[in-house]
Amino acid sequence: LAQDISAGERSWNKCRACHQTGEGAKNLVGPQLNGLFGRHSGSVEGYSYSAANKNSGISWDEATFAEYIKDPKAKIPGTKMIFAGIKNEQEIKDLTAFLKQFGQD
Ligand code: HEM
Repeated sequence: LAQDISAGERSWNKCRACHQTGEGAKNLVGPQLNGLFGRHSGSVEGYSYSAANKNSGISWDEATFAEYIKDPKAKIPGTKMIFAGIKNEQEIKDLTAFLKQFGQD
């Protein structure tokens, strides 16, 4: 499946009430998501995670992110992220491409 960053940006509207990304991104209801791919679950400084998220032992990459965002509570039982998930594979690919634009800082 090809990745479409602008479609991913539209999909990001489902996340932005709780998350920021890009320059100056801050922790809100959820942690900022800069540099997500390559970091470990529960590792954003200054954000107060649930024990479930913090101890899930996940390294975020395309595969683990896709599993998580399809059904957050299935991948991390006990997470405090209240989000039904995104089921569509293409939408997940596009959202992944959008998020990959934002590195650690
Ligand atoms: C955690 C992505 C929507 C609230 C996370 C994490 C990711 C993520 C990857 C884990 C971060 C880490 O381990 O550092 C997304 C994406 C969304 C989305 C891509 C949209 C498709 C939402 C929404 C809310 C939310 C709508 C609020 C209603 C949270 C919270 C956490 C979290 C509270 C921390 C979970 C915990 O500590 O148990 N999110 N999220 N997220 N998200 Fe989201």
